[in-house]
Amino acid sequence: MSFDVAAVRRQFPILSEIIDGRPVHYLDNGASAQTPLAVLDAVRSYETTGRANVLRGVHRLAERATELYENARADVAKFLGVQPLEIVFTGGCTAAINLVAYSYGQLLKKGDRILISELEHHSNIVPWQLLRERSGVELDMLPLTQDGQIDLEALPKVLTSETRLVSLAHVSNVTGALLDVRRVVDAAKAVGAKVMLDGAQRAPHGPVDLRALGIDFYVLAGHKAYGPNGIGVLWARPELLEAMPPFMGGGSMIGRVTLAETTWAPAPRRFEAGTPPIGPAIGLGSACNWMAALDWTATHDHEMGLVQRVLDGLQRIDGTQILGPTSLQNRYPVVSFMLDGVHPHDVAQTLDSFGVAVRAGHHCAQPLMDRFDLDGTTRVSIAPYNDNTDIDALLAGVKHAAATLR
Ligand code: ALA
Repeated sequence: MSFDVAAVRRQFPILSEIIDGRPVHYLDNGASAQTPLAVLDAVRSYETTGRANVLRGVHRLAERATELYENARADVAKFLGVQPLEIVFTGGCTAAINLVAYSYGQLLKKGDRILISELEHHSNIVPWQLLRERSGVELDMLPLTQDGQIDLEALPKVLTSETRLVSLAHVSNVTGALLDVRRVVDAAKAVGAKVMLDGAQRAPHGPVDLRALGIDFYVLAGHKAYGPNGIGVLWARPELLEAMPPFMGGGSMIGRVTLAETTWAPAPRRFEAGTPPIGPAIGLGSACNWMAALDWTATHDHEMGLVQRVLDGLQRIDGTQILGPTSLQNRYPVVSFMLDGVHPHDVAQTLDSFGVAVRAGHHCAQPLMDRFDLDGTTRVSIAPYNDNTDIDALLAGVKHAAATLR
């Protein structure tokens, strides 16, 4: 197999639209990726010919919907190299991290420690701060290196025998840097700590073998992985899921309810109270299959070729600076940059006038911005359907911003 970007682009109709007189150069995939026709078809088929609730009805539509929903769980599991019953569908990646913080958090006690880093997304900071307020756990930070990566040299200093959980971004949503997972897992296991990875920015770039990573929890977002909004995933080792108490109570998550007490359903249902996001789950299963069908050696090369074009092009524009890795080593296709003397929002607005969509600001990572004393960055985040024309439009826009806004 090889990579045919034109064939991939044809599956995303928005990419050939002219919107408000401008083409669509969509480089904001880290915020939300576009959705291929196959995913839209899967959701439409459920909504138009199979809509019913799951896990309760005995009529054929309900049984069919349950089968589609559970098949989606199996498709997600296959993409992550794990078993279907280890997959919990949530409302999103943030919801999945909060689930762990509330549920696994109940198994922690005052004085236990959780280790995160200074570059985490707010969704991997605030739930732990809330847990600290609720239960008195302590929160420790891995510092950053000068080039904006997590400083793993500091692991022996910040890990203690009280550390129960290390929770880090698999790939930074700001810099694209890839975590050295093996090093983190080895160090964490040496003190008996569990490891959770926020896979929101890694999952959209191909299958992940969670067992091989040796971690304990993984979370991802459907809408960043070419799936619908309102769906996310928590994977946890089955023995952890089994030990974890419910997060939300309601229908579906119970064994037996009496007015006196309730017993819980086994995982994953214990964590899926109420009617789940059925259509979005079916869409995410389809998105996982869509991703799995790509040749990821060729796709990764294509994405990295575009990153190189961004890095080379930005370096030729006076006054630009990259935050994060400046080479293709250990990174994924997310690139943040600053343009001297120009606010990132102004850069992004100029780019918008060229039809180029990027994100600008703090990227829900204010501690990272504080660490480098930045107002924010302009972030380019690439998907398999991007091509050279997208990058050339981006570079033309940045050149224009450099020439007109300073
Ligand atoms: N977490 C998303 C981002 O980084 C919204 O843009």
